[in-house]
Amino acid sequence: MSKTIIVSNRLPVKISKTGDEYTSATSEGGLATGLGSIYKQGDNKWIGWPGLEITEEADQKTITKQLAELSLVPVFLDQEEINQYYEGFSNEILWPVFHYYTSTYAVYRQSNWEYYNAVNEKFRDAVLAIAEPGDIIWIHDYQLMLLPELVRKKMPEVSIGFFLHIPFPSHEMFRLIPWRKELLEGMLGADLIGFHTFDDVRHFLGAATRILPVSSSANVITCGDRSVVVESFPMGIDYNKYSSLPLEPEVKEQAAQIKDAFKDTKLILSIDRLDYSKGILQRLQAFEQLLQLHPEYCGKITLYMIVVPSRDTVPQYAHLRDEIDKRVGNINALYRNMEWAPIHYYYRSFPIETLSALYSSADVCLVTPMRDGMNLVSKEYAASRTGNDGVLILSEMAGASKELIESIIVNPNNTNEVCEAILKAIKMPAAEQKRRMQAMRQLISKFNISHWVKIFMDRLKEVKQMQRSMQTRHVSFGTEQSIVNRYNKTKKRIIFLDYDGTLVSFKSNINQAAPDKHLYAIIDKLTDDPANDVVLISGRKHENLNDWFSDKKIYLIAEHGAWFKQQNTSWHKISGLTDSWKNDIYPILETYVDRTPGSFIEEKTYSLVWHYRKADGGLGELRANELMNNLKYLASDKGLQLLPGDKVLEVKNMEINKGKAALMLVEKKDYDFIIALGDDYTDEDIFKALPDSAVTIKVGGNLSAAKFYLRNPLEVRKLLSSFVEEVPVQ
Ligand code: UDP
Ligand code: G6P
Repeated sequence: MSKTIIVSNRLPVKISKTGDEYTSATSEGGLATGLGSIYKQGDNKWIGWPGLEITEEADQKTITKQLAELSLVPVFLDQEEINQYYEGFSNEILWPVFHYYTSTYAVYRQSNWEYYNAVNEKFRDAVLAIAEPGDIIWIHDYQLMLLPELVRKKMPEVSIGFFLHIPFPSHEMFRLIPWRKELLEGMLGADLIGFHTFDDVRHFLGAATRILPVSSSANVITCGDRSVVVESFPMGIDYNKYSSLPLEPEVKEQAAQIKDAFKDTKLILSIDRLDYSKGILQRLQAFEQLLQLHPEYCGKITLYMIVVPSRDTVPQYAHLRDEIDKRVGNINALYRNMEWAPIHYYYRSFPIETLSALYSSADVCLVTPMRDGMNLVSKEYAASRTGNDGVLILSEMAGASKELIESIIVNPNNTNEVCEAILKAIKMPAAEQKRRMQAMRQLISKFNISHWVKIFMDRLKEVKQMQRSMQTRHVSFGTEQSIVNRYNKTKKRIIFLDYDGTLVSFKSNINQAAPDKHLYAIIDKLTDDPANDVVLISGRKHENLNDWFSDKKIYLIAEHGAWFKQQNTSWHKISGLTDSWKNDIYPILETYVDRTPGSFIEEKTYSLVWHYRKADGGLGELRANELMNNLKYLASDKGLQLLPGDKVLEVKNMEINKGKAALMLVEKKDYDFIIALGDDYTDEDIFKALPDSAVTIKVGGNLSAAKFYLRNPLEVRKLLSSFVEEVPVQ
């Protein structure tokens, strides 16, 4: 039976050592707590680091054995690996950059990078040791961004999902990292890449298409012959657990004690791991400002602040801990009295029962990270409010704010706004609390952790199926042989060839894509056979095709069918067409050229093309969309068609169509072998127009009406060469 292997840097259980004894406890952090309750099903396994250096082999063996009972597989790291891969690369480079803290916190050390590679390889070996064909491998978070590709290289067919639990920054931030290319390539080894929010998806697509030679269409990235799907899956929590815990006697008792201890004040709860991204110091500043500006609340509100120790061996974290100590001390020293202290501060972790008691007793939960991938604390608070009361204040920089829109949403940098939100929360009428809390609880209950796992896994299966169906359509050795056999058995053949993207690769300058000797040799061989009618059917200008192919025994169709020419005859154009519409369209295109550096207009007899291959990545696509919208109505009024292509937008007469042009030729003779190869949107018209018996081949991996596909012009040339005798590349 196939299994799912979860891989993350940290296991959901962490081992610690007191004296000679090893003990285990639940790990903190959203990833471990979120997935902790679902990984135990079937034969599933979780691979990860147990949280400390264990040097003795005998100890490693004992711990491996203990963890095996929990379906956990440890990856042991030595101290240098912990320093360089975990603390260094993961937490001093990736964490700050991905949370937009570059100038202050990120240090790019080459040795950190080398260790990051080596430890990702160590995780790969751990995966390979237990993975079998048919398994699903689900890799988590920024510590293991190279792992998908490393596993893919060893197990090309296996299903790999990758999920990033922290924000993916905008390209402007991400590109600062010296190893940005390798990190993206690593992630793209997965079949499905998941993020918490749509913004992360956008940022990832932007970075990948700018930094790597890959293309994307909607949320699918085509890299080589693989299609990788990128999507947002906002992570949920174990709703049932958090909403039933407050009913447990132990939790009830603790909650009663807390309520009693704070009966005269409004209790404001904040729970975070120690992290500068959590905005703890800024939150303290807002709380102090509130006490300063509204002394009437002294004695009436209490901040119950839990900071869970985390990464405190990283200097910035240790410094932050000291700063929090100082600030809390100062505020308490300034404002406390005999009966009341403004802040109850705990620097440690608590068992889930205590957390639940706190969640269910606090009047307000204050969650104000400067950046957070999701933030599960906010969801846990709402899930614990079984009475539908309490108020959640939530930073708009947390992924959760996209879903929990009924919370009071604040900008954590705006101290006044945070103060106002606290005042609003403590004064909020019960009916409003109920309305907001009910809506949030409904959402958290539906989009719970099992739902999250299910939709991710279902999507991964779909992606895999899509890739398999693409694979069966690829012209493999077997398919090639059967096409060649048919070719050899037939006597009246017609071969339709598109030019750019099919016979030659795209070049940034359209005139650079001239045919080479190898291509001419293939065409000569094909046209030497009297059984073949070879048709070059292109969107290019007729003058252009004339320069390149006029002396060949080839039928030329230019401008998508507006012009045509048989060998040894002159060019003809379709009659009855007008180009008077150009007077209206040209000036509009010109305004886009003026606004988009690097773009230009190409004029053909019956079409105008706006090219943006050399425009700034992203800007060209944006303007092309804008131009499409802009021309939509004018184009249909004037009987024009808008054709988006590879970095071009073409406006042409509706009557001209490669499909019609191809069909006209096919109907002239009784062909027994018809084949068409093309890469573009416009070639789809040919694929659709040809009879069922035709062999239609799309070049490139996008969706198509063609029966088969080839990856690139090299593969096209190889297939054409195998029709005649092999033409060596020169
Ligand atoms: N948490 C914990 N022990 C504690 C305090 C908090 O296990 O003493 C858990 C908390 O319940 C939550 C997680 O730590 O599930 C924090 O996740 P979140 O997504 O809020 O932030 P992250 O730590 O992932 O940045
Ligand atoms: C965040 C990260 C996790 C990490 C957790 C705790 O939730 O997304 O990958 O495990 O923090 O951090 P730590 O460094 O202690 O594992």
